[in-house]
Amino acid sequence: AAIEKGGYDHFMLKEIFEQPQTIYDCLRGRLDAGKGKVILSGIDQYAQQIMNAQRIIILACGTSWHAGLVAEYIIEELCRIPVEVEYASEFRYRNPIIHKGDVIVAISQSGETADTLVAIENAKEQGAIILGIVNVVGSSISRKSHAGAYTHAGPEIGVASTKAFTAQLTVLTMVALKIAHDKGSVSTERYMHLCQELAAIPEKVELVLEKADEVKALAEKYKDASDALYLGRGYNFPIALEGALKLKEISYIHAEGYPAAEMKHGPIALVTETLPVVFVATKDSYHEKVVSNMQEIKARKGKVIALITEGDTVSAAIADDIFELPQADEIVAPIISTIPLQLLAYYIGVAKGYDVDKPRNLAKSVTVE
Ligand code: G6P
Repeated sequence: AAIEKGGYDHFMLKEIFEQPQTIYDCLRGRLDAGKGKVILSGIDQYAQQIMNAQRIIILACGTSWHAGLVAEYIIEELCRIPVEVEYASEFRYRNPIIHKGDVIVAISQSGETADTLVAIENAKEQGAIILGIVNVVGSSISRKSHAGAYTHAGPEIGVASTKAFTAQLTVLTMVALKIAHDKGSVSTERYMHLCQELAAIPEKVELVLEKADEVKALAEKYKDASDALYLGRGYNFPIALEGALKLKEISYIHAEGYPAAEMKHGPIALVTETLPVVFVATKDSYHEKVVSNMQEIKARKGKVIALITEGDTVSAAIADDIFELPQADEIVAPIISTIPLQLLAYYIGVAKGYDVDKPRNLAKSVTVE
């Protein structure tokens, strides 16, 4: 087992550190940033139908559902197609309205999650086009899909998903770029820029991983917290949800993710001197708003841990602790901001002595409903 872990203490850590490579593998042969080309052979045949879809419905569970939420923001922004994101377990039981030609995107690491699988089977019968974004080649969901793109992250052993998530974000961004470019809903300049930004992700993720010890120090400082709040806005809102989920799964600390503005409608009541509040506060079009949300937490004496863009002195002055991330376009930034949150959950779980690769009560793939 030590050999399988490639010298790492746990599969989870190995898989976190594999991400520069897995994201690169996911992009390889598909994105040519220089020429501005996105080639996804598995969806070519349906590209026209996806482009002309009246709406896109994304179905997933768990971490994959969070990838779907990020994709909602990206697809609506770049492709101008309405997107809904649904928990597969809810969608399948509520007699959903599906029109012929609706595009359903099923996101799944394992390709075997029962709720996601049955939800797409039902939708397929009603005339939807199914696009599978799956990691495990030949899995049930990939076989049931009309079209698809594999995430190519390699086998994921850690029960809590890490590298599969960043690969999902990478593929979904490529899908959005391709549709937007074909459709003409994005300017050539922005499209070319985003292709380059996506191509630069593996090296930026590497830079973050080189600072893993900084996250370890934060883990030491906050490991005894009984609760934590994760806040973000826009593209980083789902990353706040994912950060909170990771902490819950791995360290058994109660954590909630929220859109930063929505905290005023509840979570702010929990803020005390001992509550760590993790902000995903990279410089993007929501940044000013996030800064004022951080100030609101500080005014109530909460502890602010902020993931910020390097050189952001404004956020640094407010936060109790910061972790600096390389600059990136807001569309691709979530892939980078995820990394320190995975590490934070990992190091806290390890510090508390838990079995981070196999958290209690959780299964790698939920094949029964
Ligand atoms: C389980 C796993 C999660 C995963 C979820 C969805 O809960 O523990 O890590 O996100 O299932 O799985 P899927 O294979 O469909 O992505």
